[in-house]
Amino acid sequence: MKATQSVSSTNPFSVAAQESELSLEASRSSRYAVEIIDDICSASFERWIHAHLNGHRVLVVMTPTVYRLYSERLSACWSALDVEPRLFVLACTETTKTIDAVMDVCRQASMADIDRRGILVSVGGGVCSDIVSLAASLLRRGVSHVRIPTTLIGQVDAGIGLKGGVNLGALKSYIGCFYPPKAVAVIPTFLQTLGEDGILQGIAEIVKLASVCDKELFEDVEAAIATLTRSRFQEPQRVARTVIARSISGMLAQLGENPFETSTLERAVDFGHTLSHPLEAATNYRLHHGFAVAIDVAFSAILASRLSLISEQDALRIVRLLVNAGLPIYHGRLDGSLVEHAFDAAMAHRGGAINLVVPTSIGQHTFIRHTNHLSMTLIRDTIGWLENESRRKGGSCQWTADSVKKAAIAAQSDQ
Ligand SMILES: NC(=O)c1ccc[n+]([C@@H]2O[C@H](COP(=O)([O-])OP(=O)(O)OC[C@H]3O[C@@H](n4cnc5c(N)ncnc54)[C@H](O)[C@@H]3O)[C@@H](O)[C@H]2O)c1
Repeated sequence: MKATQSVSSTNPFSVAAQESELSLEASRSSRYAVEIIDDICSASFERWIHAHLNGHRVLVVMTPTVYRLYSERLSACWSALDVEPRLFVLACTETTKTIDAVMDVCRQASMADIDRRGILVSVGGGVCSDIVSLAASLLRRGVSHVRIPTTLIGQVDAGIGLKGGVNLGALKSYIGCFYPPKAVAVIPTFLQTLGEDGILQGIAEIVKLASVCDKELFEDVEAAIATLTRSRFQEPQRVARTVIARSISGMLAQLGENPFETSTLERAVDFGHTLSHPLEAATNYRLHHGFAVAIDVAFSAILASRLSLISEQDALRIVRLLVNAGLPIYHGRLDGSLVEHAFDAAMAHRGGAINLVVPTSIGQHTFIRHTNHLSMTLIRDTIGWLENESRRKGGSCQWTADSVKKAAIAAQSDQ
């Protein structure tokens, strides 16, 4: 199967003309395609490599695991190129996702004589593509980069967007850029070797998108969750490919509306990304991004049901899907002060409003802009409900709308 999606955008920059001033108006537009390719060892991947890399100086960056598993198969693709690429194996973890890693890539690029037409290639997960994208944006004030995401998060989220970035201590993605890739190749067979956690983390991002933007996607995942997880997204093949393709097109549609986050700071794809960043940082990044997203999604859904923004039934459906997938909905570091801190950080990042994305039904959403209605009692009780439910023996599928309602009434009577 081959599917191509593209995002096209213009980023205008202008200096208003005043009578006494000279002025400059500059705009940058970008367009890239995300191509779903069946396998590494395929004529279509060879064509993709050739089309995007041939005739350029290339630096390929991959993680040690990806190198161990795939370098041999990939080397056949590189060897067909006119100029042999330089290969750099970089340990990519959340704690090494720093400006030092970006500098390592830049040094390797200089050793590879990357010129203005040079291209960086990231082959790995979201950490790898985030580091490489930022390095590409800085090298010679910007060289091209292409991505070959090898994790599920990479294929449906991190690898297909316009951003790169690294952490500054506890400040997640504090140093970053909007720097679209030249092209992205999504090859689902990479997922066969991903650990179960890697699959689950990707599912968290898919559930995030589906819950607030795409009911049909939600239902596809809901119906096949066990097989998708067990088979590492290889079976049922048609469903797995559809879920990946639909997640990509949904994400690109969202990004295409507001690619540089200049037209609005209300973004549906921020669902699950308000508490998750401080939560990851509070665990010294031991809690993976995808798991933190799952907890944030569960929190936001239950909070919304207590505010009567979504039916209890739909909120429970979202939480149940997370739990049935095997995702966490609670973490010991999630408490009232972390949520307060997360809201403050969100306001600093989102122009003074928290813009907390919450579902209003499966596939629909709204934004909570201010904290007025978010009392500490409500927040603590929402957390308490998640804690209790996550501890219940055999936790999944046990919730009833009634149990959420009782907890909501208890929370309100406390206010
Ligand atoms: N830029 C964005 O828009 C954006 C969006 C979402 C997430 N992110 C970032 O992405 C990161 C998470 O990415 P991730 O989930 O891909 O994790 P990751 O990049 O940490 O990769 C996880 C591990 O999987 C290994 N791996 C990769 N592919 C493999 C394969 N095919 N088989 C076996 N092992 C493989 C890697 O070597 C790595 O050790 C976070 O830092 C998050 O902030 C960025």
